[in-house]
Amino acid sequence: MKRHRIAVIGLGQRIAHVLCAMADVGWDYEVAGHVDPAPVGLPILAERGIAPGRAYADPKALLADGPFDLVMIGSPNHLHLEHLLAAFEAGYPIFAEKPIVRTAEETFTLARRLADKATPPLFIGLVMRSMPIVRETIARVDGGQLGELISIDATEHLHPEHGGYLARNWRRKQAWGGSYLLDKVCHDFDIFGRLAGSRAAKVASFGGRRIFTPQRDGKLTAYDDGEAAYALRDAGWQGANDAFHSDMDVTDHQIAMVEYANQVRLSFHANSHVALQERRWYLAGTDGTLIADLVRNRLLFRGTMAKGRPERMDFVTRTDDNHNGADQAMAADLKASLEAGAAFPVTPGDSMEAGLTVMAIDRAMDEGAVVDCAPMWAAYDAATTG
Ligand SMILES: NC(=O)c1ccc[n+]([C@@H]2O[C@H](COP(=O)([O-])OP(=O)(O)OC[C@H]3O[C@@H](n4cnc5c(N)ncnc54)[C@H](O)[C@@H]3O)[C@@H](O)[C@H]2O)c1
Repeated sequence: MKRHRIAVIGLGQRIAHVLCAMADVGWDYEVAGHVDPAPVGLPILAERGIAPGRAYADPKALLADGPFDLVMIGSPNHLHLEHLLAAFEAGYPIFAEKPIVRTAEETFTLARRLADKATPPLFIGLVMRSMPIVRETIARVDGGQLGELISIDATEHLHPEHGGYLARNWRRKQAWGGSYLLDKVCHDFDIFGRLAGSRAAKVASFGGRRIFTPQRDGKLTAYDDGEAAYALRDAGWQGANDAFHSDMDVTDHQIAMVEYANQVRLSFHANSHVALQERRWYLAGTDGTLIADLVRNRLLFRGTMAKGRPERMDFVTRTDDNHNGADQAMAADLKASLEAGAAFPVTPGDSMEAGLTVMAIDRAMDEGAVVDCAPMWAAYDAATTG
């Protein structure tokens, strides 16, 4: 088996977890080097006995020290485009974290670059595509079990600790993260577009910050067993000390509505501070209804005219990060793509479309208007043709 030589740009928690998942599924690799001003992922690697390789001052110096079998990009979102462009020039296969880039303009720049010049293989970490429950959901919709997909209701609700982390980490700032929805649920909107089989035509959204505000400071400080609240995780690069007194400028709760071009309609609800966690997709088709419960890793299906008990599938793996084994499944997909040329479950094009959909939703919220997505898709299509 080939030993892979890996370069890392942005050795944060995420890339460290992906490297661990790669080890879990039998990758043989060494991290030859990394670039990161303050690598948050080091303790995670150390716990697994994975050496981080040599520290380089910048991507140019690192990438000049190839060859590499894989360049992994896990920097904050505002740096993805810059790091992707540098890795394209080096020419080695790339795994880059989602969202692929942070703004519509960056998306058009990337699309033009991908159209204009050959690039190395590019795999994007939209990890839900690799989850067995998501694969099953897609297969059932594609296979016609639900009949015609009519409408979707979906949620992502986070534990207060997770919300508190987002309010302190670099994701709290649009300039670094993009937005709450872009960073957190571009995964879900990637799958919704895939299930609808169509692009968003019109979007609307309302959202704001009513949880992590100075006015709410001190109202809830500890759990009912005495454990201190909002302090569990290291906030990392550019971290703020206090979830209620940071300079956060993204939402902490948001709702969205989407009408896809083929008339599939969707409503979405996200909240970053709930007592009952949920990530759930409710798919209503003409011939059947499917609930994918991504927290419990459980799928329910019943035919529209069926009177018996719903079919229930419990997917075995459940983990605290709610990825429920997806990281390992994605690591296996990545291995199969690199070593045997297998198709990776998501393309850069899918990733750009998912990002643009969420960016349109955020624009609708900012403008307080229903956004017609047609001009955005026209600009994107023009960029993809170079
Ligand atoms: N696919 C998933 O499920 C998933 C989950 C979490 C995060 N992510 C994505 O992974 C990326 C990293 O997120 P994270 O949670 O690991 O954040 P993190 O804060 O743990 O890590 C980010 C790292 O980037 C480093 N960094 C900052 N500036 C840099 C620079 N100029 N050059 C190189 N490195 C730099 C930071 O020091 C830090 O170590 C983000 O794009 C995020 O959206 C994806």
